Amino acid sequence: TLGPDVVDIRTLGKTGMFTYDPGFLATASCESKITFIDGDQGLLYYRGYPIEQLAEKSDYLEVCYLLLNGELPTAAQKQEFDHLVMRHNMLHDQIMSFFKGFRRDAHPMAVMVGVVGALSAFYHDSLDINDERHREISAFRLIAKLPTIAAQAYRYNKGLPFSYPKAGLTYAENFLHMMFSTPVAEYKVNPVAARAMDRIFTLHADHEQNASTSTVRLSGSSGANPFACIAAGIACLWGPAHGGANEAVLKMLNEIGDEARIPEFIARAKDKNDGFKLMGFGHRVYKNMDPRAKIMRETCYEVLNELGLHDHKLFKLAMALEKLALEDEYFISKKLYPNVDYYSGIVLAALGIPVSMFTPIFALSRTVGWISHWAEMIADPGLKIGRPRQLYTGAARRDYVSLDQR
Ligand code: ACO
Repeated sequence: TLGPDVVDIRTLGKTGMFTYDPGFLATASCESKITFIDGDQGLLYYRGYPIEQLAEKSDYLEVCYLLLNGELPTAAQKQEFDHLVMRHNMLHDQIMSFFKGFRRDAHPMAVMVGVVGALSAFYHDSLDINDERHREISAFRLIAKLPTIAAQAYRYNKGLPFSYPKAGLTYAENFLHMMFSTPVAEYKVNPVAARAMDRIFTLHADHEQNASTSTVRLSGSSGANPFACIAAGIACLWGPAHGGANEAVLKMLNEIGDEARIPEFIARAKDKNDGFKLMGFGHRVYKNMDPRAKIMRETCYEVLNELGLHDHKLFKLAMALEKLALEDEYFISKKLYPNVDYYSGIVLAALGIPVSMFTPIFALSRTVGWISHWAEMIADPGLKIGRPRQLYTGAARRDYVSLDQR
């Protein structure tokens, strides 16, 4: 109870309009011209172009150009852009020595958060967020260096010597080369594998104001440098409800282990007291099939056929789970469809990518989306520091009680 002269602090600041929207289910935090999603119809457009057309006709670096600049490049612009990204893909030798400070068994995402954040200690010519040229170079650096950082995090983990980017390869081929080449055997890139990798990059390139992009925007709204903001985005993406989902899919498939156990896991997913969810199913925005999942599903079958893996136990299990869940009344009524991560997890596993690298691959693909949103926000003359409000539900005002009186 409060005395007559004491204001109930729980009512302070609640005059005027105040919206309460936990999880931001119905609150737009910004205006953006980059990506359009219609979750009910299952539509995704980058700068107005349907994702299906981009996945089929374009390649990842062209999509990067589009997301950053708003238009598709001309042939000359594309050539210059590819060249610039490739020019920035090496890491400073001292950055290479950073890796050695981590334990060998560190998760590659932990390494990436640290190393990407530390880029701001090296590139002082791209830290002035008010200088357009600085902003541009930081974008090139991030897009170019993320695959190199991710691949080295993996190699360090495996005890392999670092491998360097190679001229003449595409972005996707270069990533596969950096992951898998050894001093005695160069990785021979399979075009179907490279195309699948490129599609994974393209499909994950942007997805408007998801948790990690909102994290990047919120971090950037304080004027933090782009490398620090992207490191914050990587940290957010790591969670299993977001970028960690494709890793969680593979762990779940391994845990199920056998097709005969699928009904048991489906029953657990429906049991509200269990807390188990079918990983790779459901999406906050898509209440229809995620358009990226449709494309990734096709790619999944292409890759499994090309590599002769359609009869592999794990992949047969994945396809059986997909079928049963799609026919199940619970999943149908709650509009829980397989999401892009369900299929990307299977494709990555088929390509021989270890599970711990799934989220780093998502992070390197999404870097262009993060940096495009960051740049769009910084260029806005009306930019305000992000500062959500809260509904205070704690104790009312009370007086301090000394230790000997408690
Ligand atoms: N398995 C079983 N039940 C589920 C699942 C699932 N995968 N997903 C949602 N549900 C249920 C919920 O329990 C809830 O049930 P209720 O109505 O009885 O309470 C209902 O479906 C609605 O789900 P919400 O959790 O309210 O949906 P929300 O939009 O908050 O969550 C999310 C979306 C986080 C993706 C959720 O579906 C999930 O955890 N899926 C598994 C993890 C996953 O695959 N994440 C990847 C997302 S895609 C990406 O990041 C690229």
